[in-house]
Amino acid sequence: MTTRPRTPAPGKPAPGKLPLTELAELKARRQPIAMITAYDAPSGRLADEAGADVILVGDSAAMTVLGHDSTVPATMDELLILTRAVTRGARRPLVVADMPFGSFQVSDEEAVRNGIRFLKEAGADAVKVEGAGTTLSRVRALVEAGIPVMGHIGLTPQSATMLGGFKAQGRTAEKAARLLKDALALEAAGCFAIVLEAVPAPVAARITEALGVPTIGIGAGVDCDGQVLVWHDLLGLYHGQSPRFVKQYANLAEQIKGAVGNYVEEVRERHFPEEQHTYSMPEEELAEFEAALGVLDDGGKVGKRG
Ligand code: KIV
Repeated sequence: MTTRPRTPAPGKPAPGKLPLTELAELKARRQPIAMITAYDAPSGRLADEAGADVILVGDSAAMTVLGHDSTVPATMDELLILTRAVTRGARRPLVVADMPFGSFQVSDEEAVRNGIRFLKEAGADAVKVEGAGTTLSRVRALVEAGIPVMGHIGLTPQSATMLGGFKAQGRTAEKAARLLKDALALEAAGCFAIVLEAVPAPVAARITEALGVPTIGIGAGVDCDGQVLVWHDLLGLYHGQSPRFVKQYANLAEQIKGAVGNYVEEVRERHFPEEQHTYSMPEEELAEFEAALGVLDDGGKVGKRG
């Protein structure tokens, strides 16, 4: 008899899932945390198989997969679909859904309503929110509702226009101190980890030392407790200009273009499909079919001759 997989009790990680509390233990053991973005089931599965600890379904999807010029147009509906796909593919990594612009800015209530949707409808383990300031009250409300929250400060792409563009943050003593204050406030509000984006390495190192929760750096130096990169940047799939902090580990765009180009050429030259890609049928069935075609040619009706 087959039995349904046991549904974990609320608050219990699914079987095989990295417990959220393990992230703080990794920090304590000085074991770096590997986080990467993913936006669909195959990339979720591959990130899992490659050993990633955390998968972020980033609102960077607006730029990497939806063709926008910024992350601002990403919607709840889009992020819910992408997160659901990733959680179907990934088992062990914690899946963090990025709360898109407009989904948490208006009120604590709306933030909680949308955060709940990510956990209930998309199977996310946690959500990420950008900024400090009014975001602090959203973090408290989300955490009180039982929704684990990852913070994100430094370069926060949803407010890039207000920051003067996609620029490094915290490069003066005053701004660095502001970042440290914001990180401490996010930790106090209940964040279980904080992304530091485009922050000078020594500033990120001091923030990392000051916090009990892990920092995840992107363009923030090697002393953060973990690192995150965007799937398309890491694999050479993004067509636009990647930021300075990106390391490209593969050039899949070239490989894909080569493979698709070969396919197009083989189709045009009738080299594809070959024998092994086609289906056969019994000889007598084929003969009967062809005889029926003869009737069709003669009188317009498919049927047996005679
Ligand atoms: O949306 C995203 O991918 C992110 C990462 C760059 C941290 O927020």
